[in-house]
This record gives sequence, C-alpha cells and structure tokens, in this order.
Amino acid sequence: MRAVLSHQAVLLQETIAALKIRPDGAYVDGTFGRGGHARAMLASLGPRGRLLALDRDPAAERCAGECFGADARFVFERATLSRLAEIVDRHRLRGSIQGILLDIGVSSPQLDDPQRGFSFLKDGPLDMRMDPTTGRSAAQWLASASAREIAQVLRDWGEERYHHRIAKAIVDARRTAPLTTTSQLARLIAAAVPTHEPGKHPATRSFQAIRIFINQELAELQAALPQARDVLAPDGRLVVISFHSLEDRLVKRFMRAQARGREWPLDLPVPTAAATTAHGPTAPFTPHSSLLTPHSSLLRVIGRALRPTQAETQGNPRARSAVLRVAERLV
Ligand SMILES: C[S@@+](CC[C@H](N)C(=O)[O-])C[C@H]1O[C@@H](n2cnc3c(N)ncnc32)[C@H](O)[C@@H]1O
Repeated sequence: MRAVLSHQAVLLQETIAALKIRPDGAYVDGTFGRGGHARAMLASLGPRGRLLALDRDPAAERCAGECFGADARFVFERATLSRLAEIVDRHRLRGSIQGILLDIGVSSPQLDDPQRGFSFLKDGPLDMRMDPTTGRSAAQWLASASAREIAQVLRDWGEERYHHRIAKAIVDARRTAPLTTTSQLARLIAAAVPTHEPGKHPATRSFQAIRIFINQELAELQAALPQARDVLAPDGRLVVISFHSLEDRLVKRFMRAQARGREWPLDLPVPTAAATTAHGPTAPFTPHSSLLTPHSSLLRVIGRALRPTQAETQGNPRARSAVLRVAERLV
C-alpha cells in the first residue's frame, strides 16, 4: 500500500527556476517527501553537483534510498529541519550551498495512508507524527491535555471558531473511553460544531491544528530559516513553499527583516500555543541568540510571492494554498 502512494510536487517549474541551479553546485532539499523536487533538482545538476536531502519521516528515508540511493551526487539524512545547520556542517558544506528548498507541510503519502492518522476522511490510529518513532502521538496528547490547552491549539493553529466547544467535547468523551482513532475524533468534532462551513469537513481546521502542534511545524520553520541563511553561499537562493498563512507570514517577515538588516524575530507571529509542545507542557521555543543581534542585510528578497496557476490547482487541488517565496544570500 505505502509504496504506491505518491506525491505531486507543487510549483515544480517555478521552484527549479527560482533555485537557479548551477550544474556543479551543492543544494539542499530540506523536505524530501517523495522526491518530486529532488528528482528535478538532480536532473538539473551535472556529474559534479550535489544534493543533500533531509526529511524526518522514515517512509521518506526509505523512498530516498530506493529512488536515489545509487546516485553518487545524492545523500539523505533523516533529520528535522531544526537540525539543518548541524547536518550541513557534518557534510562540510557550510558556505558553499547554492540553494535550499523548504517545501513545508505534509506530503500526500502522509495524508493518504490511514495508518499515519492525519486524515479525518480515513479511519486509522490517531497518530499524526511525521516521525512516528519519536514524540507523542495525537491520541497520547489528547488523552492528557487540559481543555484549555486543546482549545488554545485549535484556535492558534487552526483558527477554529468553536475551539472551546470542541475541546470540552474531547475532554468529556475521554472520561468514557480514550480517543484512539481518526474517525472517532472526526465524528466527535462534527457533533460538537453547531454550523458547518459549506464544502469543508467540520474537522478540517482541528485536524490541521493538532497536526501542526504535534509536529511543532511553526517552531521547526522558525528555527530552520536563520540556519538556512547561515549556511548559504553568497548569491545562494532560499526557496520556501508554505501551505498555511501562519507559515507564509513567518517566511515573509523573516525574508523582509533580513533584507532590511533588522533584528529577527521582531513581533513574533508565532502564537501562544508555541509555549506548549507535543513533548511537554512548557518548553517554549527559544530562538537562537544570534537572531536577536542587529546585523547588516544578509538576504535580498527576489520577486513577489508566487502561487500555483489555475491549471496546476485543477490537476492537483492540494496545491491551492501553496505560496512560494525566494530570497538570495548577499554576502
Ligand atoms: C510537502 S512534503 C514535500 C514534498 C516534496 N517536495 C516532494 O516533491 O515530494 C513535506 C515533507 O517535509 C517533511 N517535513 C515537514 N516538516 C519537517 C521538519 N520540520 N523536519 C523534517 N522534515 C519535515 C514531511 O515529513 C514531508 O515528507
């Protein structure tokens, strides 16, 4: 089953154009997924080019081995984005990376495999971890989190209007029996929400919020951006595709602040739920101290945000919320 699940790379031509690939350059694909972008990057590289790919998902690691394991230009590391600089250093590539791609979010195989527990449309264990070998699953978190904490996550990461009602319903339901499956949670949310948005499953926002929280997606991105900046070569490109307005805001503010030589983070857009993590109740994400030091401009913003064409979203509806931003390292 898992082997046949595939992912359609989003904004593929635009990404390759934005990376301005030099045939003998070194590149990083920070979110390998099923290697759609990686394949196109390798196709643009010559025999002396290199591609370092990262992903936290063991299924992505298996796919990388099967697809590109024999390609001497390619190396894969199973790691989180927040370890980007450490991994680049281990490969002695700091300062010589010509381009970094971060295609943030979940892959189609993660969403489509019921066993991963990301989908409210398919019954499966309530897991939602991109890396199921570490951290707490959604079921484990929902079994012990307070109603207040659950409501905060639903509000901050899902902009769920009925966050209080849903949180209360979860806490009430778990007194009788633990929430262990995706369909159990989806049914509970549908019953707790008084009005349904047309064309949208009532659990959409809550599932997104819980997924973002369980995987600490915003904190990961926030940690990765300055590391990407630091490891790029002069003129190297940072290309970020995001699928959530909070992520895109983070990317936009980061790139603009870096272009102006401003301190970052300023007026952090990461909401308060960042103060709790899937791994514990109070471990706020602490930005790297160098971020707080004023500096001269290190990045130049390239062009405007790009969105998929109508033709792309017709062929791949999951691309519809994608936003691509590009910046170039200056010195
Ligand atoms: C949208 S998919 C990337 C798809 C890929 N570009 C392709 O063409 O197949 C995002 C991937 O990034 C991984 N990912 C997301 N956040 C991550 C993080 N913080 N650290 C490592 N991997 C992450 C997910 O496991 C997923 O496989």
